[in-house]
Amino acid sequence: MTQETAKNIIVGELRKRMTVIVAMVFFLMLTILISVALPLLFKRLVDETIPGRDMSEAGLLLFALITIPLISAALHAVYDYQREILGEAISQAMRQKLFNHLVHARLRDLESTETGHIIHHITRGCGLVGDDYIVDRLIPLISNALLFIGALAAMTLINWRLMLITLLAFPITYLFSKRLKDYVRTLEEEFLRILESGSSTLQQVFSGIRTVRSFSGEAHEKARWDTWIKRHWEVRAKTETLHNLILILPTHVVDRVLMGLVFGVGAFEIINGRLTIGDLIAFMLYTPYVYTALRAMLQAQVTLEKIRVAIAGLDGLFAYEMERQGGRELTISPGAGPSIQFDNVSFDYGRGDFALRDVSFSVQPGEFFGIVGESGGGKSTIVDLLMGFYAPQSGRILVDGVDIRELSLDSLRRHIGLVPQDIFLWNSSIHENIAYPDAIAAEAVAEAAKHTNLHAFIEALPEKYQTIVGERGLALSAGERQRLAICRALLKKPAILLLDEATSALDALTEEIVQEAISQAKSGRTAIAVAHRLATVMKADRILVLQDGSVAELGTPAELIAERGLFYRLHEAQKL
Ligand SMILES: Nc1ncnc2c1ncn2[C@@H]1O[C@H](COP(=O)(O)OP(=O)(O)O)[C@@H](O)[C@H]1O
Ligand SMILES: [Mg+2]
Repeated sequence: MTQETAKNIIVGELRKRMTVIVAMVFFLMLTILISVALPLLFKRLVDETIPGRDMSEAGLLLFALITIPLISAALHAVYDYQREILGEAISQAMRQKLFNHLVHARLRDLESTETGHIIHHITRGCGLVGDDYIVDRLIPLISNALLFIGALAAMTLINWRLMLITLLAFPITYLFSKRLKDYVRTLEEEFLRILESGSSTLQQVFSGIRTVRSFSGEAHEKARWDTWIKRHWEVRAKTETLHNLILILPTHVVDRVLMGLVFGVGAFEIINGRLTIGDLIAFMLYTPYVYTALRAMLQAQVTLEKIRVAIAGLDGLFAYEMERQGGRELTISPGAGPSIQFDNVSFDYGRGDFALRDVSFSVQPGEFFGIVGESGGGKSTIVDLLMGFYAPQSGRILVDGVDIRELSLDSLRRHIGLVPQDIFLWNSSIHENIAYPDAIAAEAVAEAAKHTNLHAFIEALPEKYQTIVGERGLALSAGERQRLAICRALLKKPAILLLDEATSALDALTEEIVQEAISQAKSGRTAIAVAHRLATVMKADRILVLQDGSVAELGTPAELIAERGLFYRLHEAQKL
């Protein structure tokens, strides 16, 4: 699949909406024709109607001069409306495609990106490109250019010498804008970084508010935020000053001076009989069109730089590699659950040292397999690799004899019920969290909750299964969160059950009940339980002991104790 880019999306959306665009151009042409024709009516009024004392024509012109601007305004409103729709369409398409892309991006890229960066680009970045820049700045440029051409043509017809004077403004302002470009880009890039860091800071402060409170970090955070506000203000002020001083001011000055010049020279032309008063009036009515167009073109230089910066940001995210797509469906014969094999697996998260080094072991169909070891030993990394979250640098992982690189990740994951070490819950109801992402009947959910000793607790809540668990499930205790996570993993009826410290927050009694549920559920499936606390895996068929990313010991609990090695020492240490 070719990589999506912001530009392709914009072009695609513009193509798709060709009819709207054609309609827009049509309405635009009409308003421009009207705008260009209007000064000619003034000319007629001054040069012919007034000297000829033609009352009826004066009345007619009066009517026309009043109604034509109204009609023009109405047409312009239609054009504006279509323009807004187009902008929204571009922003929407961009937001949708970027989300779709990121939702499938590799974890390696996503997990090293600040969430604030992603939020900023999907919400604001896409809107900036579609609505602000393309629609509010670039498209008006087209109408200004057309108006400019029309006005220029009319002006040339009236008096080409005066027209040339008006055009003097161009080289002058062009020189300004050319020198501005690089500066604008630097400022814009800086501003973008500030906006992003703002989102990130806010996000972190408020999701980490308990840490802030526990360390009395409020003053620290306030200072950090004040610094942010100050930086924001500084750059903003610079941009605004730049805008006003360099952009608006000189063009105004140029406008005024040239206006005077046109008027003065016009006087000579009238004296010389090359111009009528009506011509001069019409001419003066055209000059604002020219200068507006000029300013718009000048602005466009700046806008184009801003668009480049915004698009580069979006393309940076579009460049994230996707998780691999496709592959064979994992088919598991009913009965004992699949076998799992790690074959000389080595893996490095990218830090330059191996989290797993040459790890080999195999889990039999239907086995209850324990993995223990000191923290940081690589236990969760085994889970990450088996889930296909990350791919090992060397070695193979086989499920029922098939290398998982050949399997569709989606099908692999659908066969695994994972209870991760860090449980994430949605800020939605308990029911939705257990059933996620499917629509599962209340009875089935309740049945699963009974097995994990959760049902009675939920029933006692005022809203029962409809109780909202709060952001990241913070309205629940750690043990309740774990039971909920186990419940939702079991509800999938997975062929492989993968528990990463899944019972660490449970008391002994609850753990026993949950263990019971797991081992009942285990029949017909393969289970791997990672544990720090050995009690959790004493019932396992076999246990793997990991040390510094390598296999230290492997055997039944009894064998390992008899061996008097690392497992024995851990076991002795945990015995109270
Ligand atoms: N996402 C990650 N990026 C970089 N290093 C990581 C990441 N996750 C874990 N590690 C490192 O890999 C090693 C093994 O971690 P882990 O598998 O989580 O250990 P365990 O689960 O046994 O406590 C540790 O040194 C840890 O710091
Ligand atoms: Mg771990």
